[in-house]
Amino acid sequence: MLESYGEIIFLSHFMLVYMAFVNSDCPMRCECDIDNEAMNLNCTSTIPDMLPLNTRVVSITDIAYEYLQQSDFNNARWENVTKLYLRGGSVNSVFSDTFWNVSNLTHLQISFPNLKRLSVNAFSQLTKLHTLDLSGNFLLSFDVVADALRVNEFTNNLDELNLHSLAMFLTPCKLKETFFLQLQRFSIKR
Ligand SMILES: *[C@@H]1O[C@H](CO)[C@@H](O)[C@H](O)[C@H]1NC(C)=O
Ligand SMILES: *[C@@H]1O[C@H](CO)[C@@H](O)[C@H](O)[C@H]1NC(C)=O
Ligand SMILES: *[C@@H]1O[C@H](CO)[C@@H](O)[C@H](O)[C@H]1NC(C)=O
Ligand SMILES: *[C@@H]1O[C@H](CO)[C@@H](O)[C@H](O)[C@H]1NC(C)=O
Repeated sequence: MLESYGEIIFLSHFMLVYMAFVNSDCPMRCECDIDNEAMNLNCTSTIPDMLPLNTRVVSITDIAYEYLQQSDFNNARWENVTKLYLRGGSVNSVFSDTFWNVSNLTHLQISFPNLKRLSVNAFSQLTKLHTLDLSGNFLLSFDVVADALRVNEFTNNLDELNLHSLAMFLTPCKLKETFFLQLQRFSIKR
């Protein structure tokens, strides 16, 4: 009896600590999950101002912003984020400084039905990037993407590129041969 009482106290104490940790740190409009001491977040409509410590994976859907820029991620807590999934909403531009403070990214998804402008240098800081998913950007033309992919530092580690349903044929492409040579190294999903 005493033993199980002690167990209950222990368990409820553990639950309280766990819930306090999750609740106090989890930003508004996000759900947070601890996975091996790392935090994974699923958020809706806003990019959180302050992430929990040790956040590794962030998924944000229906972002209600017109453009993305550095100030949206300008917080030291983004430094350990390795996977960032941004899907849906009203974003139409991604500025060149957007990912400066998310520099440890290995996986990035940008999928916005209204995206038209992607700065040439938008990915240039992301030297650790392995997977770039640009699928579902129906209005983004291929030459805009090609310009952003030409930045050498960025393509160093990239080995998976998803260009599914890009607006490939809206504008004529002016691609250099070297671009196709670089593309050969990736596994491209179409
Ligand atoms: C986030 O969503 C994914 C898939 O939709 C799910 O597998 C994961 O458990 C969710 N994580 C949190 C913290 O809600
Ligand atoms: C990032 O990870 C390192 C090493 O695990 C840790 O010392 C540091 O506190 C983390 N920073 C943040 C903001 O989570
Ligand atoms: C964001 O990155 C810029 C450029 O690397 C740096 O100057 C700035 O201190 C960083 N901000 C934070 C909050 O880490
Ligand atoms: C993130 O990058 C910084 C240096 O840019 C490094 O000190 C830190 O350990 C990295 N964190 C992870 C989780 O790789």
